[in-house]
Amino acid sequence: MISTEVRTASGSYSVLIGSGLLESVGERIKEKMSPAQCAIISDTNVAPHFANAIEKNLRAAGFEPTLITVQAGEHSKTLEQAGAICEKMLLTGLDRQSFVVGLGGGMIGDLSGFVAAIFERGVPHLQIPTTLLAMVDSSIGGKTGVNTIAGKNLLGAVHQPSLVIDDIDVLKTLPRRVLRQGFAEIIKHAVIADAKMFRELKNETASDALSLQTIVQRNVEIKSNIVTKDEFDRTGERALLNFGHTVGHGIERAGNYEQFLHGEAVSLGMIAACAISVKKAGLPIADVKAIVDLIQRFGLPTKLPDDFPRERILDALKFDKKFEQGQIRFVVTPKIGSANLSRDVTMDDIREVVTKL
Ligand SMILES: NC(=O)c1ccc[n+]([C@@H]2O[C@H](COP(=O)([O-])OP(=O)(O)OC[C@H]3O[C@@H](n4cnc5c(N)ncnc54)[C@H](O)[C@@H]3O)[C@@H](O)[C@H]2O)c1
Ligand SMILES: [Zn+2]
Repeated sequence: MISTEVRTASGSYSVLIGSGLLESVGERIKEKMSPAQCAIISDTNVAPHFANAIEKNLRAAGFEPTLITVQAGEHSKTLEQAGAICEKMLLTGLDRQSFVVGLGGGMIGDLSGFVAAIFERGVPHLQIPTTLLAMVDSSIGGKTGVNTIAGKNLLGAVHQPSLVIDDIDVLKTLPRRVLRQGFAEIIKHAVIADAKMFRELKNETASDALSLQTIVQRNVEIKSNIVTKDEFDRTGERALLNFGHTVGHGIERAGNYEQFLHGEAVSLGMIAACAISVKKAGLPIADVKAIVDLIQRFGLPTKLPDDFPRERILDALKFDKKFEQGQIRFVVTPKIGSANLSRDVTMDDIREVVTKL
């Protein structure tokens, strides 16, 4: 097992990465938390695989867990659902000494984290991510929240977790498509911050395959380095993680959050961001080709279907939080392994690349 520390102004926490960690989850949590009541928040796909064992394990370690399961899917990430969970927790007798365990992918991470942030004005949040995307991205950095009709993640809080437990074995039950989309965020990390990891992913062969454990560790480190520098999104450093996300979010929304998974939409968004980077940041064409190849290699999309309503992508952009005072803060990459914010990208630039996507 590897333990990585994430340092932020609001406190430090450990990310444990390894195999078979769930078997001793109670003991591991006991090292951080005093005996108390806790809510395990999970979804209908994840809970049947892991929740019972975790509940038993926590009970054996002296905790009093209550399992709360919500319907799987992004549509559960709402204020109403967060409220309903809080009501259940109150009825069960949970209080300020209690804590919340999020057991699931990014949807559950965001929802359970938001509940932890508001329940009794904030209780500790522990994360047991069960998707690759959640391990390498959403469980790190403390962003929690819910969706609204106007857009995704528009309500939320920064509430850092107290502990993250990444048991690689849980990924075995993940549908292939869901596993694959996690690589979109990994490729994003490589493009914006780690040229070496980009080469390794590119040159990876069956014999020297980077293990999932190593990949998760490297990506937790990349994201946590960025979060440490800019926990509250103030200096622009953290905004670099939005590479591919401006257009990506527009695509997710234009596809009613059904046609594309988040990582698939981000893959397409990265292709758009690369085209813009050629024009605005001097990204070499050879780098664009390498990025497109890598995205394809992981079975992720690089082209929108011909009949996709492209105009809706542009309509969706006005809901994007990155449009500050009508100005776009667009993440560009001048070369693989680095990124910066550009205020020089216009809606017309985006329209041009989306039309060709
Ligand atoms: N907070 C952040 O910084 C941040 C960053 C990126 C994404 N997100 C959020 O994360 C969410 C996307 O995360 P996701 O892709 O993990 O989606 P998800 O949580 O919806 O999981 C995808 C699907 O896989 C199922 N699943 C999860 N783990 C499983 C397992 N081990 N076995 C079988 N099925 C399993 C889920 O039930 C769901 O159907 C979005 O809501 C996005 O906004 C947040
Ligand atoms: Zn993302």
